[in-house]
Amino acid sequence: MEHVRIGVVGLGTMGSAHLRYFPTLVGGGAGAVCDANSERAKAIGEEFGVPWFTDYREMIEKGPIDAVLIATPHFQHPEVTIAALEKGLHVLCEKPMAVTVGAARTMIAAHEKHPKQKFGLMFNVRTYPLYQKIRSLVQEGDLGPISRITWIITDWFRTWTYYASGGWRATWAGEGGGVLLNQCPHNLDMLYWLTGMMPNRITAVANIAKTHPIEVEDEVSAILEYPSGAIGHFITSTGEAPGSNYLEIAGDQGVLSARQGKLQFRRTRQSVKKLRETSPEMFPVAETWDINLTYAAQPENTHKLVTQNFIDAILKDVPLAAPGEEGIKGLEIGNAMLMAGLTRKPVELPIDPAKYDQFLADMTREHGGKKAVASVR
Ligand SMILES: NC(=O)c1ccc[n+]([C@@H]2O[C@H](COP(=O)([O-])OP(=O)(O)OC[C@H]3O[C@@H](n4cnc5c(N)ncnc54)[C@H](O)[C@@H]3O)[C@@H](O)[C@H]2O)c1
Repeated sequence: MEHVRIGVVGLGTMGSAHLRYFPTLVGGGAGAVCDANSERAKAIGEEFGVPWFTDYREMIEKGPIDAVLIATPHFQHPEVTIAALEKGLHVLCEKPMAVTVGAARTMIAAHEKHPKQKFGLMFNVRTYPLYQKIRSLVQEGDLGPISRITWIITDWFRTWTYYASGGWRATWAGEGGGVLLNQCPHNLDMLYWLTGMMPNRITAVANIAKTHPIEVEDEVSAILEYPSGAIGHFITSTGEAPGSNYLEIAGDQGVLSARQGKLQFRRTRQSVKKLRETSPEMFPVAETWDINLTYAAQPENTHKLVTQNFIDAILKDVPLAAPGEEGIKGLEIGNAMLMAGLTRKPVELPIDPAKYDQFLADMTREHGGKKAVASVR
């Protein structure tokens, strides 16, 4: 294969944003498009000069395509992924890979049956030079073993106009959650990807409709416990403005912080553990080098980078930026935060998928249908 023909499923905000950079991809491009809305599918198919479909199964069956890019609402991600993998196609799926850990496992199992096909996720934040720098400092041991990760990520401000823009948005039936399912998947992926650690217990407080007339959570504060003894904090909201993006990772060699893009490393001259254990002083000052770290400029289009990487993985077997199998990590953290936050009971990880499915069914029954109607302003 020399040219990867991609069928885009879901042509709303994200699907059409992806298609805009398609003509600049090397070694791939649009092969077909599909949207449940026939007018949209027809208009976009004609604009790009490719066959258009309203049923993804038909596109997978008949479309002149080698791969699919899935940009439907999250609940449809597993079924489209599995159908495409079973038909021999490569899959690039939007985040979150699924709504529940159980559904994500079925996607991974489908890929295990077709390991030669590529299965990637649109975790474009993994390509941000800021996070790549943080990850390399952690992985190369500069920070030492991690003792704490704290992320205040409240710059996901959203308005009622946003929530009213799609009937599926911020509903249990349409999204299976709120800020944790829609806005935070990148941050939840980062919690895993930056540190390589998974928590084994999460305690949280989540609030439904704190700042918007929606039926799902729009504010969450969570505490994560790790098997190593490290502790994590994650605070998010879609109601705060201007909001904060403050990430701090403490380790045995100091503390790394990123605030609104400014990256600082307060590197201790010696191991903090050693200082604690051997200093003859009661209140020693931990000497540090305070370093403002530079990193590469933010690329213009990070979604395009992930799609190009997906094409290169198919054509040249380069490693995927975000393999499908890794998407379950952040999803599991998010599922645990949501269940802990709304039941106000700590959740142990790995999660029992059946328990989570029951929790989701309970939430849907109790709170479903309570989102304000679109005309309410
Ligand atoms: N990676 C990112 O940075 C990023 C950013 C925004 C959204 N997303 C993700 O992209 C996905 C789509 O979000 P959006 O904002 O584009 O939503 P949207 O509502 O704007 O678009 C969704 C589209 O999917 C279509 N659709 C629904 N069910 C379908 C089906 N069964 N078959 C074919 N088409 C179907 C709808 O008609 C609509 O056109 C979500 O999972 C979201 O989390 C990712």
